[in-house]
Amino acid sequence: MDTLTIRREAEADIPAIRDLTSRAFVDKPYSDQREAEIVETLRDTDSLTFSFIAVKGPAVVGHIAASPVSISDGTGNWFGIGPISVDPATQGEGIGSQLMQRALDELEAMGAGGAVALGDPTFYRRFGLATRPGLTYPGFDPQYFLAVALADPDVPAGEVTYHPAFTG
Ligand SMILES: CC(C)(COP(=O)(O)OP(=O)(O)OC[C@H]1O[C@@H](n2cnc3c(N)ncnc32)[C@H](O)[C@@H]1OP(=O)(O)O)[C@@H](O)C(=O)NCCC(=O)NCCS
Repeated sequence: MDTLTIRREAEADIPAIRDLTSRAFVDKPYSDQREAEIVETLRDTDSLTFSFIAVKGPAVVGHIAASPVSISDGTGNWFGIGPISVDPATQGEGIGSQLMQRALDELEAMGAGGAVALGDPTFYRRFGLATRPGLTYPGFDPQYFLAVALADPDVPAGEVTYHPAFTG
């Protein structure tokens, strides 16, 4: 069985990341199917803090990105994790969890103050992300907006703004 490797994206991986991201979100009712475009816009505007892929044999089976966010109280050095995608054929094998852990390890190594993510609380909760009463993302269902403090002692209070790539 092929082992799983997680590494930074290279230019040659870009088409596979686009394809994977489209396939992962294609039938998801909570998605507007813009995730592949979001990743490309972040890359094209030098706003990908990092982009890791999971590789199994010759195939790119997973991807995770992060980008800076701003917070209305002025707190800096916080990042949005996502989009995260795993090939539908290999979901449920722990690949998404390994990508999340790699992303959090990278943010910790960078000295990031903390991270936010938009998505399923059941998936993100196991990595310490949770809803935080003081930190909001206007226009989004609050139960799906999650945060974790890393280098910062606490989660700040304020409104979070993602890179414009996320809002089109
Ligand atoms: C979400 C996603 C990245 C998870 O990747 P994965 O490789 O399937 O996740 P894992 O195998 O590491 O699963 C970890 C755990 O989370 C659970 N889980 C996975 N996806 C979940 C989801 N969407 N909602 C709730 N729980 C989920 C799994 O059941 C598993 O639990 P278990 O360990 O008790 O069995 C993947 O399902 C995916 O690409 N989904 C489509 C795109 C998407 O929704 N991205 C995230 C936006 S929130």
